[in-house]
Amino acid sequence: MNVDFYRHTLSAEDADSVASVLATPFLTTGAVSRSVEERLCSYFDVPHTLLTNSWTNGATALLLALGIGPGDEVIVPAMTFVASANVAELVGAKAVLVDVDPETLLVTPAAVSAAITPRTKAVMPVHLYGQMVDIEKLRAAVDKVAPTGHHIAIVEDCAHCFEGRLNGYRPGRFSDAAVFSFYATKNVTCGEGGAIIFSSGGLYEITRETRTHGMSAIAADRFKGGTYNHWDMMRLGLKANLPDLLAALLPRQIETIDTRLEEREELARRYDEGLDDTPLRRPMPVSGGRSAWHLYTVGVAGGRRDEVIASLNAAGISVTVNYRALPELHYYAKHHPETVERCPFALQWGRETLSLPFYPGLPKDQQNYVIDTLRNVIGESSSADKGGPI
Ligand SMILES: Cc1ncc(COP(=O)(O)O)c(C=O)c1O
Repeated sequence: MNVDFYRHTLSAEDADSVASVLATPFLTTGAVSRSVEERLCSYFDVPHTLLTNSWTNGATALLLALGIGPGDEVIVPAMTFVASANVAELVGAKAVLVDVDPETLLVTPAAVSAAITPRTKAVMPVHLYGQMVDIEKLRAAVDKVAPTGHHIAIVEDCAHCFEGRLNGYRPGRFSDAAVFSFYATKNVTCGEGGAIIFSSGGLYEITRETRTHGMSAIAADRFKGGTYNHWDMMRLGLKANLPDLLAALLPRQIETIDTRLEEREELARRYDEGLDDTPLRRPMPVSGGRSAWHLYTVGVAGGRRDEVIASLNAAGISVTVNYRALPELHYYAKHHPETVERCPFALQWGRETLSLPFYPGLPKDQQNYVIDTLRNVIGESSSADKGGPI
């Protein structure tokens, strides 16, 4: 039996939304994007949203808007996708990698506080696999150690967490901004895309410019009132806006996200039960949280992870690794070698983890096959390898 790792939920019905944009003369960022931005403002209960053509470009535009550059530091967990740290390095700042909690795999206020220096300009907590970092606590911890009069921005990496919650709050409540990815495998997708939500107008206004080459007006705004209006270039920016052609795929994705979360929760419950008495490690649920369940990850102890992946692949099961820890990747090992010793938990999880097939609509018989095959592959692991904190 072959089991795909992931399948999206876009369908032929969504072609109509794209066709309706094709029927207009305007393909790039315009009325459709604006209405999706409004929808996202109400979903997250925030005053401002900007759609972007990826998380990466959106976060880069945001860091530029925050004035982050050479000589500055951005604190990032060592267990995440490379993009979270790369955007800091791309604008010329230093990504300061910190370790994660051994049970939840999330960055902690204590680890962030300990890494703050007078050069720290921002912190990028990552809601890994869909579980939220406690941003309210992080905000308090950061403010406590920040040098007097020095605001350290908190930018949430929500690539894994659109629909998750913690203590009743969605992302964006306690941070300066939260950045989402609508990449092909994300819970809400339009193939490639993203969004930034803002709690304040000032940062939004500047990011609106850095999102499009620092221009004071995008194409859609230049013809207001039927006449051409000149634009100015206010600052350096990049090209990070999302075209209406892709934005048109988002409304249905957003309307159905909460139903799909229930399906994800059911799949996670079935994996939990099916793998409960095995030595596989799993991230601990965060108390008071509702995970967005972007990925279902397990940890294989005893140096057997890659052998288990090969056996699952041989059985027709697609899996991925999310992620090898950043300090072990060539670039970060070369440029920030000191972080290897500082991040033992991220490193260990990065050597043990693999992600199982997981998407709404995954047939039950296929999921049962994954569970049975994985149980057989890990076989008679010694009880010394049994779960618990890493
Ligand atoms: C945690 C995390 N951050 C950032 C990104 C980057 O997203 P994008 O591909 O939209 O730039 C991803 C994408 O996989 C991710 O998983």
